[in-house]
Amino acid sequence: MQKLIIKGCKELSGKISISGSKNATLPILAASILTSHVQLKNIPLVKDIFTMIQLLNFIGLKTKLIKKKNTIIISNQDKNINTLAPYKLVKTMRAGVLVLGSLLTKYRKAKVSLPGGCAIGTRPVNLHLFALKKLGAKIKIKDGYILAEAKKGLRGAKIKFPSISVGATENALLAAFKAKGKTILKNCAIEPEIKDLITFLKKLGAKINLKGRTITIMESKNKSSKIIHQVIFDRIELGTYMIASALLAKNKITVDKVDPKIIKSEINILKKIGIQIEQKKNSISIKRGKRLKKISLITKPYPGFPTDLQAQLMVLLTQANGISRIKEEIFENRFMHVPELKRMGAQIEIKDKTAIISGPTKLTGAEVMATDLRASVSLVLAGLIAENRTIINRIYHLDRGYEFLENKLKNCKAIIKRV
Ligand code: UD1
Repeated sequence: MQKLIIKGCKELSGKISISGSKNATLPILAASILTSHVQLKNIPLVKDIFTMIQLLNFIGLKTKLIKKKNTIIISNQDKNINTLAPYKLVKTMRAGVLVLGSLLTKYRKAKVSLPGGCAIGTRPVNLHLFALKKLGAKIKIKDGYILAEAKKGLRGAKIKFPSISVGATENALLAAFKAKGKTILKNCAIEPEIKDLITFLKKLGAKINLKGRTITIMESKNKSSKIIHQVIFDRIELGTYMIASALLAKNKITVDKVDPKIIKSEINILKKIGIQIEQKKNSISIKRGKRLKKISLITKPYPGFPTDLQAQLMVLLTQANGISRIKEEIFENRFMHVPELKRMGAQIEIKDKTAIISGPTKLTGAEVMATDLRASVSLVLAGLIAENRTIINRIYHLDRGYEFLENKLKNCKAIIKRV
């Protein structure tokens, strides 16, 4: 099994280019089922994307991945279609459940494995199914699978989500795309990745309007032309490298291929902590502040501070003066990185949903275990600032979502190697 070895306490400087968003690419790949020819650019070459491509191939779509250009060409000739998403693919990548909406729209039936829980929580799909039922799908759960059917096609409906879910909003969008009549979705997630999916669906001919947390979808007809789409940048990857810079850039690190307007809450939080940030139209430069300040925050759906950056921010707060607090509101079990950070010397206490971080503390290298995607990258950040050597096990979690992580860090003078 591969490990990462990091030599800590090295100052970082240089430039990092941000990859395309994993969480935007996944639903757009699922949406590709809805049309005959798609060219997707700026996709990140990470494990979750490869798994989704495998799933599309299993369903019967043809794909050509041009790795050098981070581009994929997908064609759906409607031949030998399998309206099935098997357990072996969905269990490793929960976003596989997103093919449910597309398969129901296009083929009026689907059998999709229930994803099950994961390290950060139980992660149910009840909100996905709630929306699909409202759109007229008949749904049964049998042998660990969701069996869904809409023999006469789906029909528009008014749906108010009882709570905000990214995946359920995406599945509802995919299912409502060609539903008869008008669909109004209320209390939706409005993450930039959802807006990217809407932009893609509009290219397919969808008539979609987004206002506040309400999305209105009018009955749409497919446009037959070839669709070309460039995926937005990965705001979580950007946030991760901004935090790395906040920890280690005495001069500065510049990250490019981004849009600073999309990450206002992250920029505000970092500025409050005392990080120096300079914004340009497509790039951000970050420099470590002289004295880092404590902060209290709660993770929230977009435009709030993202749960996907909670673990990374916690590492930064181990270096802030005073007692900081982070309340995790999205997932019930997302503090798995805390025991590992404590083994490296961090002073963190968990009370219910809140992590209480006392700082500043010197971290020292240790052998640690990655538990999920974002927790593992927080250990990389901790390793970069720790004295001596850190060894991170189970880095397959990292490979699910960070493209060229070691190379990007090495280019900024980090000493990191995979063995
Ligand atoms: C997506 C992101 C993930 C991010 C999360 C929250 C992708 C591929 N993944 O995950 O990186 O951490 O948004 O920003 O885009 N819930 C229910 N019932 C449901 C669905 C969700 O109770 O049917 C709950 C979840 O358990 C969780 C909360 O709603 O507590 C938010 O989850 P959701 O927004 O659905 O996350 P994902 O779409 O799975």
